[in-house]
Amino acid sequence: MSLTLFRATWLTLAIGCVVAAEPIVKFEGSKVTYHGTTQGPVEHFQNIKFAHDTSGERRFSPPELYTPVEGSEIDATAPGSACPQSKAGIPPFFDETPDISEDCLNLRIARPAGTTAEDNLPVVIWLHGGGVVKGTAYDPHFDPDNLITLSTSLQKPIIYVALNYRLTIFGFARLPILNSQKSLNVGMRDQRAGFQWVKDNIKAFGGDPKRVTVFGLSSGGTFISLHPMAYGGERGVPFTQAWAMSGPPGTALNITSDATEIHTLAVAKKLECGGRDGEILKCLREVPMEKLTETAMEYSVNNHPPAGLFTFIPSVDGDFIPDRQSVLSKTGKFVKGIPMVFGWAQDDGATNAGLAPTFQKEDDMKAPIKGFAHALTDADYEELFSHYPASDFEEEVESYESRRGESDPVAPVHYFRVSRILRDILFTCSSVQFGYEMSRQSKALDVNYPGVRLYDLNQSMLTPMLKAAGMPYIGVCHGSDTNYIFNGLFPEGRVTEADQRLSESIAGSFINFAATGTPIFIQNGDLIPWPESFPSVDERSMSGPSELNIQLIGGPLGTGFCSLARKYDDATNFASREGSMQIPLMDGIEVGEMESLGFRSRQRELEREKLLERCTYISTLSEKLGV
Ligand SMILES: *[C@@H]1O[C@H](CO)[C@@H](O)[C@H](O)[C@H]1NC(C)=O
Ligand SMILES: *[C@@H]1O[C@H](CO)[C@@H](O)[C@H](O)[C@H]1NC(C)=O
Repeated sequence: MSLTLFRATWLTLAIGCVVAAEPIVKFEGSKVTYHGTTQGPVEHFQNIKFAHDTSGERRFSPPELYTPVEGSEIDATAPGSACPQSKAGIPPFFDETPDISEDCLNLRIARPAGTTAEDNLPVVIWLHGGGVVKGTAYDPHFDPDNLITLSTSLQKPIIYVALNYRLTIFGFARLPILNSQKSLNVGMRDQRAGFQWVKDNIKAFGGDPKRVTVFGLSSGGTFISLHPMAYGGERGVPFTQAWAMSGPPGTALNITSDATEIHTLAVAKKLECGGRDGEILKCLREVPMEKLTETAMEYSVNNHPPAGLFTFIPSVDGDFIPDRQSVLSKTGKFVKGIPMVFGWAQDDGATNAGLAPTFQKEDDMKAPIKGFAHALTDADYEELFSHYPASDFEEEVESYESRRGESDPVAPVHYFRVSRILRDILFTCSSVQFGYEMSRQSKALDVNYPGVRLYDLNQSMLTPMLKAAGMPYIGVCHGSDTNYIFNGLFPEGRVTEADQRLSESIAGSFINFAATGTPIFIQNGDLIPWPESFPSVDERSMSGPSELNIQLIGGPLGTGFCSLARKYDDATNFASREGSMQIPLMDGIEVGEMESLGFRSRQRELEREKLLERCTYISTLSEKLGV
C-alpha cells in the first residue's frame, strides 16, 4: 500500500518535472527573456506588455509602444490586468474581471509545447468582443488550449495571441482637443499597436510574421473589419488575413455622429469637470480610475439599457477613421489583397429584437430598429417592411410552432420579421457589401487573390439555455460561433457529440485558413473547400454583387454551400427574383454534390432569404444609418 503510494508520488513528481520544464523565449538582439508555463501540450506566455501604462497624462492618449530594458527577465506566468470595465460577468459570454488597471495593454501567447524560434508557424490574433464595455484576453471563454491542440493533431500547428485594448470612455472618449491631438479612437489604436508588436516580435516565439490572421466576434469582429480601412488604407496593416464573426464594419454604430462627444461631456458634467475643452480634459485625467469607470458605465447603462453597450464607440476622426465605412469601402480607401471570411448566425438579430410576444402588430417592429437607426422616417419603415412581408415568414412561424413546448410562449410572425431585419441591417448586409468590395477591388489588382468567403451558422450550443430561460424562439443567437471556433469550449455546459464534431470542422476550417488563406471544412474525414463568395465581378452592378455563394454551417440541413444569383430583366435593372439558374461550377466541388438533397434544401432555404434583393435595398440606407 505505502509502496504503491510511494511509487505513485514518485511518478507524479517525475512527470511533474517533465511537464514543468519552463518554456523560455529569449530575444536575440535585446536579450530580453520571457518565462512562461506549460499546461499539458500547450505553452503559455501571459501579461506581455506591448504598450505603456495608460494612466495619468497617457489617459485618452494614443498608446506608446513599450520596450523592456535590455536583458530583462520577464515573468510571463500569470494573466495581466484587464482594462477598466465593470467587474461583474455576463454569462454565458464573459466571466468576472476582478483585476482591472489602466496598465492593461498586454497580450498573451499560446503555442504547441516544444515550438522553437525556427518553426515559422501561422499566427492567429483574437480580439474579444463585448460591446466595447467588457472583455479581456484572459477570459476562460477564450481559452486557446482546445484550438492549439486541434491544430497540432491536424499537423497544422498555429500560434495564438489575444490582446487587451481600452474600452468604454477610456478607449473612445471624444473632445475637440483630443481630435486636434489625433487622440480619438485610441482603443482601436491600441489594437493596431498590439498587432504591430506581434508582427515585430512573434518570430522569436516561433511565429511567421507573414502569416498573421486577426479574428474576432461582435464588436471584436467589427474592429477586425474596420482595421483594413484605418488611415484610408494608406499605411497598410500589420496583419495579412482576417476572419470577422457577426462583426462587419457597418453594424449601424452611427460612427458619423458626434454622439461620443455628447456622451463624454455628459460624463464630465457628472464628475463636475467643467470649463474649456483643455480644462475638461485635464480634470477627466485626474479622476481616479474606479470613479471614472463607474460613472461612465452608469451613464452608458442609462443611455443604452440594460448593459450599456455601444455608447463610447469608434467615430470618424479624419485620421484613423477618415470617413464612413461604406464610403471608404466603395471608394477603395482600404488595404486590398486581404483574404477574409465574414460570418453571421442564422438568428443574429434576435437578441436585439426583444421578447417575441411583444410583437403583436407590424408597427411594434419599429422600436427595436429605432435603437440603431434614429434617422429612418415612416416612409423608410414602410419600404423596409415591404421587403420582409409577413407572408415570407409563415414558414418560420410554422417551424417554431412544430417544436414549441406547452409552456413555451407563442411568437407572432412580426417577431420573426423584425429579428431577420435586424440581422440583415446589423450583420449580414454589411458583410456582403464590404466582402464584395474587398473581393472585387483586390482581384482587379491581383488575379491570384484567394477571395472572400461568407458563412451562415445555423447551430448553437446555447439552444438548451435559451429554452430554459423561456426564449426558445430565439434560435441561433448572436455569439454562438465562439464555442465552435475555440473547438468545443463551453464553460457553462456540456458539449454534445454533434457540437464537438461541428467544432472540429469550424475550428479546423479556421486553422486551414490561418495556414493557407483558404478555409477547408473537414466533414467525415473529407476535405471540403468553401467556395469563394464572389466568383465573378459584374460590371453592370454598381450597387453590389449579382452572384453570391454562402457556406451554410451546421443545423438540420447540414453543412454545404448555396449559390444565389440575380437575374437581369434588361440591361440595367435587376429582377428581384433570386434563383439558382446559373450556378457556376467551382473548383473542388463535384457536380453530384449540387444534385444532392442536402444541397437542394439548403439552396431553397437561402433563396427564401432574398439576400441580394434585401441587401441592395439596405445599402441605400447607409447614410441614414450613419455607417
Ligand atoms: C446618431 O446618434 C445621435 C445621438 O444619439 C442621434 O441623435 C442621431 O440621430 C444618430 N444618427 C443616425 C444617423 O442614426
Ligand atoms: C436553420 O435551422 C432551422 C431549425 O433549427 C430550420 O428550420 C431552417 O430551415 C434552417 N435554416 C437554414 C438556412 O439552414
